[in-house]
Amino acid sequence: MPAFQTVRGMRDLIGEEAKTFTHIIENARKTAKLYGYKEAITPHVESLELLSAKSGEEIRQRMFIFEDLGGRQVALRPEFTASIARLTTTSLKNEPKPLRLFSIGTVYRYDEPQRGRYREFWQSNYELVGSIKAEADAETILLTNSLLKFLGLQKYAFKIGHIGIIRGILSQEGVDEKTQNAILQRMDKKEYDAALRLLESETTRQILKGLLEINARDWKDTIEQIKDYVESYDKAIEATENLAEILRLVTESTNLTVEVQPSFARGLEYYTGVIFEVYIPELEVALGGGGRYDKLIEAFGGEPTAAVGCAHGIDRIAIALETQKTFYGDTDEKRVAVIAINESLKSEALKIAQKLRESGIPVEFEVMGRKMTKALEDADKRKARYAVIVGERELKESAVMLKDLTTHQQTVITHKDLVEKIKN
Ligand code: HAM
Repeated sequence: MPAFQTVRGMRDLIGEEAKTFTHIIENARKTAKLYGYKEAITPHVESLELLSAKSGEEIRQRMFIFEDLGGRQVALRPEFTASIARLTTTSLKNEPKPLRLFSIGTVYRYDEPQRGRYREFWQSNYELVGSIKAEADAETILLTNSLLKFLGLQKYAFKIGHIGIIRGILSQEGVDEKTQNAILQRMDKKEYDAALRLLESETTRQILKGLLEINARDWKDTIEQIKDYVESYDKAIEATENLAEILRLVTESTNLTVEVQPSFARGLEYYTGVIFEVYIPELEVALGGGGRYDKLIEAFGGEPTAAVGCAHGIDRIAIALETQKTFYGDTDEKRVAVIAINESLKSEALKIAQKLRESGIPVEFEVMGRKMTKALEDADKRKARYAVIVGERELKESAVMLKDLTTHQQTVITHKDLVEKIKN
């Protein structure tokens, strides 16, 4: 039989790569804790109806869909937002607002596999439910910034836009929602000519074209130029002012790099307000993205509820850390190998191993039945810091032989002092 391979677009993460993922996940959890987000663990499989309701054509076409044995149409989650919106209309319906919810895990999209694009990938996801205020929008950008800072990334920039500007113009011009979605989908793919061709009115086309061509010195200048274009569109003016307020909050509270793009659109259809993505110069794909979605919860049968959130692509952050040579300290340097001199001392050795582990020291117990020399060689190869050798003679004095595998020095040490000695 030929050796089995992973399914196309799915990956095994082993060794250093797995370690990097764990490191990112730990920092994502730390970020959630520091910003007050409670973890929500939701199923990988949800009803197709829920997942496809408001996600947009792009995602709908890429879902892993199947019928379960009970004849239900279900799909693997392509993101977390729909599941969290479902929760806020059911179990969390009566929770006081704001609700801050964090999720982490794998999501699935039938994308064309390439570097940074997989069919199973990891996201850390944060949703802030119940606030319409600009400080809530700012929070999702700031927490993304915090996560990247904790991870030690040096160079990255935020691309920021506001879906309300273009929708505001199109709605006032009487362009229906379906056409608006089609235009935004094309803009997300940077197919601007195709997007403009979908407009019947030449005036609207010229206004949109003007917005797309804005080339400003900084975000304040961009806002001024957008205002010139949208002066006769009430909703677009409101959106521009909202964007300006969010940008002010973000830039006055940190010194992150922002690039404001009026033509910026995202693949997901549920956005109603600010949208953003974060990039590093060396990678074409975004490390994360998010935005405001004030109509989704209502569309799922809940009370009208404002919400904003973001998700980070852990697979891509791992690539970014490697690209920018961002290393992090290994935290398990003081690993210990515990080896019994002979068969009859195995349970004594296990007892010592347990005691070390309970004191927080990582232990690899000799399970291959090897003789002492081989077992020590193996411990050395695995880069253990110490070998704890459990022998008859030492045991009588409630002690063990502790071998430092870097200096090769051996000392007899009592059980009582062992933890202290290893830790220091
Ligand atoms: P998204 O932009 O579709 O947003 O995905 C978030 C991040 O997931 C992307 O920025 C990227 O880093 C990563 N990602 C997307 N596709 C792939 C792929 N094929 N392979 C590897 N990584 C990928 C959302 O999912 C929204 N739910 C974010 C959000 C939360 N908006 C509001 N709340």
